[in-house]
Amino acid sequence: MKRSELSRRLKKAAKRARNTKGQRFDSDIRSVWKLNQSGEGNEPVSAQSLRESLLRTQEEDSVYEDVTSQLNVADLPETRELTQQPQVEAAPRVISVVNRKGGVGKTTTAFNLAGVLSQMGHSVLVLDLDPMGSLCRSLQVRPGKMTMSDLLLGIDGEMAGLIHKTSYPSLYIIPGDPDLRTFEMRYGNSGTFREALKEKLGELLKKNHFPYVLIDCPPSLGLISGNALIACTEVIIPVDGSTYGMGALVDTLAIISLIRKNVNQRLRVCGLLINNVDMGTIYDRIMREVLIEKFNGLVFSSFVPTSPEADESSQMGVPVTHYAPTSWMAKSYRQLATEIVARGPSTVAKAA
Ligand SMILES: Nc1ncnc2c1ncn2[C@@H]1O[C@H](COP(=O)(O)OP(=O)(O)OP(=O)(O)O)[C@@H](O)[C@H]1O
Ligand SMILES: [Mg+2]
Repeated sequence: MKRSELSRRLKKAAKRARNTKGQRFDSDIRSVWKLNQSGEGNEPVSAQSLRESLLRTQEEDSVYEDVTSQLNVADLPETRELTQQPQVEAAPRVISVVNRKGGVGKTTTAFNLAGVLSQMGHSVLVLDLDPMGSLCRSLQVRPGKMTMSDLLLGIDGEMAGLIHKTSYPSLYIIPGDPDLRTFEMRYGNSGTFREALKEKLGELLKKNHFPYVLIDCPPSLGLISGNALIACTEVIIPVDGSTYGMGALVDTLAIISLIRKNVNQRLRVCGLLINNVDMGTIYDRIMREVLIEKFNGLVFSSFVPTSPEADESSQMGVPVTHYAPTSWMAKSYRQLATEIVARGPSTVAKAA
């Protein structure tokens, strides 16, 4: 299939899925958008390699190749002795990407944000907390023998032992595993393991400095997302602006507020990210205005347009800022990363 054909189909499907019938206007935005859709100035991958990758995905057991190796703990960035003197450095920012609604772009956000932050020179650790393991599929990493669910259950080991390298320098991942589902189902109603992630991640961050930790959450607000919200300092909430998404956003914010009041006082909303929108439609433009009005100051000024590169880049296992650096989507992620860095906490003294 030619890239232009794939692009056309992806665009059509996205439009159908979002059911946007709104009147179109703003020729400036449309023309920039069309330029981007045409792929002008940007030929990151041949149609043939994309086709091959899609075919490979369908073959059992080649869903994702392990292009990486499990790390030796000593290889981790800035491993330091616990006896070292306290030093002044930025506190790690642990950011959960969360929304109760499925398909709003949580994994896409974690994947591409991790890519751009590491491209900017930051060490980034991503935690895939979704039993579906979509993020580790995008980063082409498989879970090892010991898994995140084992760790949360306290079966064995340290979190550092779960970290994998990726193909990108300074980007590391802890894969999700299917047993996380069992973890949530079995212990969801007991408070027993709700602080398991906080404890393990805290131990890791005392020894290894990752300025950014991004946590990709599943589309639910149960024990897994609860663990993430208790362990993190900030949340990013991707919203797709659909009618049914508003209820999920309100639920998500309510849970965040509950956790902040009762368990994690340092938790704050870094921002709401409007994703997968076509600002050429009246619906999406008005939806953005309404969100900005309602959640004053929380909505990022960057938004991510509906882009064929979203599926292409995750299919190819390459963050969009590497895959299609001149695309509108890549520009949005660079702008978003700059905003997130700017919204960061101040430098604090921290014991090594
Ligand atoms: N800006 C975008 N433009 C076009 N497609 C997008 C965009 N963002 C995400 N998508 C596509 O929407 C689908 C859902 O995205 P994604 O998997 O990131 O959502 P999610 O919130 O993680 O879903 P889940 O809740 O199931 O984990 C994917 O196919 C993704 O490629
Ligand atoms: Mg996901």
